[in-house]
Amino acid sequence: MKKVIVLTTILASTIFANPYTKCVACHGANGEKSALGKSKIIKDMTKAEIIESLNGYKNGTYGGALKGMMKGQVNNLSDDDINAIANQIGK
Ligand code: HEC
Repeated sequence: MKKVIVLTTILASTIFANPYTKCVACHGANGEKSALGKSKIIKDMTKAEIIESLNGYKNGTYGGALKGMMKGQVNNLSDDDINAIANQIGK
């Protein structure tokens, strides 16, 4: 029983510690969807482009008509989170 709890805890923390988890609904599990039919396919962006655009959404220097939606998504991400996302999704 104890083992089951430990395993569940490890699984849960892996899932919740991944900053990309909350992006999946719009961008797809691997960044393969165009969010709301508006965004680029982010898995085709380079790591540098992803970092630049996420920082741009944060400080208001990047984006199109729906940039306000992305600002809410990235406001609380740290630089480490943004790097982790770029490494996971970018090419
Ligand atoms: C509610 C849906 C939604 C969620 C959740 C969401 N996004 Fe987005 N994302 C969008 C939309 C819509 C755009 C295009 C916005 C615009 O007009 O600039 C976008 C744009 C982007 C872009 C730039 C692509 C481009 O077209 O220039 C990146 C990179 C990105 N999102 C990454 C993320 C990451 C990483 C997360 C999670 C932290 C996330 N998004 C969460 C909807 C979403």
